[in-house]
Amino acid sequence: MLTEVEVAEQLPVNLFEFEAIAAKRIPKQAFDYFSSGANDEITLRENRNAFERISLYPRMLRDVDRRDLCVTLLTGQRISMPIMIAPMAFQKMAHPDGELATIEAANNAETIMVLSTLSTCSIEEVAARAQGNLWFQLYVYRDKAITESLVKRAEVAGCKALVLTVDSPLLGRREQDVRNGFHLPAGLTCSNLVDSKLNAMPLHAGDSGLAAYIHALYDQSLTWKDVEWLKSITTMPILLKGILRADDAELAIKHGAAGIIVSNHGGRQLDTVPATISVLRKIADTVAGRVELYLDGGVRRGTDVLKALALGAKAVLLGRPVLWGLGQGGRAGVELALALLQSEFELAMILSGCATLSDITRDLVEQ
Ligand code: FNR
Ligand code: LAC
Repeated sequence: MLTEVEVAEQLPVNLFEFEAIAAKRIPKQAFDYFSSGANDEITLRENRNAFERISLYPRMLRDVDRRDLCVTLLTGQRISMPIMIAPMAFQKMAHPDGELATIEAANNAETIMVLSTLSTCSIEEVAARAQGNLWFQLYVYRDKAITESLVKRAEVAGCKALVLTVDSPLLGRREQDVRNGFHLPAGLTCSNLVDSKLNAMPLHAGDSGLAAYIHALYDQSLTWKDVEWLKSITTMPILLKGILRADDAELAIKHGAAGIIVSNHGGRQLDTVPATISVLRKIADTVAGRVELYLDGGVRRGTDVLKALALGAKAVLLGRPVLWGLGQGGRAGVELALALLQSEFELAMILSGCATLSDITRDLVEQ
């Protein structure tokens, strides 16, 4: 029998338990920023509910003795599982090691980390720890020279792909951030923007300081033409993150995107958009393998990964649970979160008769 203390100290057994622990460890302003969705958080909840509504139809007697979870991406990179780390801003708010802990955990798990433009460690600092497994997520500033310099720095630092986030001309209204007057705690800064002096995010009376920052600095005039402009200034393949419609997926291909990330920004931008898993099938049919397709939003269970792959994703990106892991134990916490999801995914494969990723076909979710 375990004593009460031992029970309390037991490691979390699923990703939901990570959040409960993080809620106790991470300061309230940071936890609210990390966990929030926009407005009524309908999309935030729907990301989970939609996964839960999908049933699996497992195959029996298929020899699942030897499994292979590895996947090779458009960049030629081979990763140990179809699970990567989504770009998330301000990771030092979860743990003093911030993005450096996350890249070390990604190294350990042999997967990709996507670094946010709004990271609290610089591209160069994180890239110095990376093992060829870093991608860079771009927010486009009104000042094109600043945007261009971010892209060049990512390329020079060895980032293997550029992820352009297309769902955020302004920040979605996260009401808890408005109430908290969200701003970066003292000592933290937008490390990639120190040279351009756009690194500070001061208190903004009656609003989220981040919303005010983005309103003032991001390019709200961005169009498909800018995707072509980006292509002209970098050799990195460009993925568009935040696509929710098949016709936009078609435009992404037309304008030269190498990949698409079906995402609703974890329910943090436009509220009441559908769950990403609900739109994946249609987008996958349109894309028809012409470019690579990924999904994020609400992935918390191994069965969610299986469902996303069955509906056409090459891999998924994991968001908030990485921050919960960071908050709980820095690098080790992120490693634990990734390992948990990987082992759940492997078990889900085994129990549904899949030995390799190519066995994960659409009939697993459709009968
Ligand atoms: C994000 N996300 C995000 N996306 C992006 O393109 N650039 C960014 O800087 C951020 N920052 C960010 C901060 C925090 C705290 C969160 C929770 C999310 C969105 C992220 O990449 C991803 O789309 C979602 O988080 C995926 O959903 P889940 O897994 O969190 O449900
Ligand atoms: C967010 C931004 C930074 O979701 O992408 O908070």
